Amino acid sequence: MKVLIVGSGGREHALAWKLKQSKKVTQIFIAPGNAGTASCGQNIEIRTSSEIIDWLKQNKVDLVVIGPDNYLAEGLADSIQKIGVPVFGPTKAASEIEWSKSYAKQFMKDVGIPSATYRVFENEEDALLYVKTQSCPLVIKADGLASGKGVVIAKTLEEAASTIHNIMNKKIYGVSGNKIVIEEYLEGFEISVHAFCDGENAILFPASKDHKRIFDGDTGPMTGGMGTIAPVPGISDEDMMLIRDRIVLPTLAGLKKRNRPFRGVLFPGIMLTKDGPKVIEFNARFGDPETQSYMRILKSDLFDVLYACAKGSLKNVDVKWNSGFACCIVLASADYPGSYKKGLPIKIPADSKEIVVFHAGTTIHENQLVTNGGRVLGITTVDETLKQALGLAYSSISYDIFPGVQYRKDIGIVSIEK
Ligand code: AMP
Ligand code: GLY
Repeated sequence: MKVLIVGSGGREHALAWKLKQSKKVTQIFIAPGNAGTASCGQNIEIRTSSEIIDWLKQNKVDLVVIGPDNYLAEGLADSIQKIGVPVFGPTKAASEIEWSKSYAKQFMKDVGIPSATYRVFENEEDALLYVKTQSCPLVIKADGLASGKGVVIAKTLEEAASTIHNIMNKKIYGVSGNKIVIEEYLEGFEISVHAFCDGENAILFPASKDHKRIFDGDTGPMTGGMGTIAPVPGISDEDMMLIRDRIVLPTLAGLKKRNRPFRGVLFPGIMLTKDGPKVIEFNARFGDPETQSYMRILKSDLFDVLYACAKGSLKNVDVKWNSGFACCIVLASADYPGSYKKGLPIKIPADSKEIVVFHAGTTIHENQLVTNGGRVLGITTVDETLKQALGLAYSSISYDIFPGVQYRKDIGIVSIEK
């Protein structure tokens, strides 16, 4: 079987790495990929949805796997379905639960899925008047996609007001900030939940945990994600069943009823609050860097599972996971998530059975591996205990991997201490 993976991040490298282990997969293409994906298959220098469709018309593949959210929001899965190629990834309508936070909130309200109380605003004055009547912290979100960075937890009314101004007036997230959602701050322990879905059936992964902010102790600005662990110690099968029954299955049923059957990975960010699990947000794709940890512990053949989701036959497959714990430590460029330099030389730690380095923002320039993005590498390990896995990952990291490398030193710590 031939597979095309769309995307260029660490998630796509991890997916390509795992698909390469499938006996059924004979060829992997990655569009456009990175320096790491080139070791798993063939990178193709195409980026836009229309280039991808043109390429698919000329090159027969058996499955397309879409990584990033922007392609889903553009309707790439719809266009691929139209030309008759099986696709893993939801349609534009099914993925609206990710690309419009206001739609997601309304959907959750209608279906009865537990989430934070909220209001939606389409102009700055109304939003400013509203926050004056509220107490902080308040959570302010750009409605549309913003690479995971469009959320501010405002601790003061001044911060809330300046955030609203930046999003709605200065348009720091472009049209994604035409509308904003202001919601209640949820207290609790946050986890990432992923479920393989075929439109009707769902199979949950073990829970994982991302570390979203740039600095240790979860401080500083939001990023795309600085490191993950999976599974999360202390999260029980009962917790996961509750999340499946109260959140994942009602979401799938609600979307199907609205003629938006969801095929792909449904990834709700969940806050475990004292009143039970509540949805922080929905993603309609694999998490990055959650996937880098997940692919290290997935036992089943990834191709079988993705293909079954695309074909609506998930009932016929069993998804198995290895025992032990995985972690991923993201190495980011200096000044990320702000603007950062590219083109800095990388000295990569060697892969071994235990350590696998997934590339994200990397490329080859004049025969040299160089940085090409904010999140550059993901160091992943697996071991019997989470503490051992983390110890192994951190022992392979040094500051000379590339100039200015920054990473969090506390990935997984709150989960070990919990
Ligand atoms: P989102 O992009 O909606 O996942 O938000 C990014 C991050 O902001 C989440 O991973 C949470 O850590 C935090 N967050 C978002 N919404 C809330 C909320 N209502 N209460 C507390 N934290 C939140
Ligand atoms: N790691 C969080 C995300 O992929 O949205």
